[in-house]
Amino acid sequence: MPALPDFDALFAAAAAIQPRAYAPYSRFRVGAALLSNDGAVYTGCNVENAAYPVGTCAEAGAIAAMIAGGGQAIRAILVFGEGPELVTPCGACRQRIREFAAPETQVAVAGPEGIRARFTLAELLPASFGPANLPR
Ligand code: THU
Repeated sequence: MPALPDFDALFAAAAAIQPRAYAPYSRFRVGAALLSNDGAVYTGCNVENAAYPVGTCAEAGAIAAMIAGGGQAIRAILVFGEGPELVTPCGACRQRIREFAAPETQVAVAGPEGIRARFTLAELLPASFGPANLPR
């Protein structure tokens, strides 16, 4: 069994990157940090755009950083955002995570005070479609 992911390290990394988000339209800044199979932590933040749909989520940035950095799989991921509600990954990002994670991969949701909830990917995206669904 792999060692339990260090969620304290993911929290610190996501909290550190969140202020760098470019969110002039929503003013809702999000940070994400993931532990990759290469042992590295990759981070991302949301980057909005004047053409609103072109904006990207924090999770997408962290996944892009992982791939660019040589990681291939997500061992755990944490999303950091403010406000009273849980900042769970949006539907599109659940699918983005799905590409590189297992059903049991932990997805943590945090606010400034710490981790608020933990889910498995399968809880957030049941009966999902993934790489194995495509014919070789
Ligand atoms: N956002 C993320 O970056 N990740 C999430 O998990 C939820 C939403 C961003 C998208 C947009 O820039 C802003 O938060 C408001 O929706």
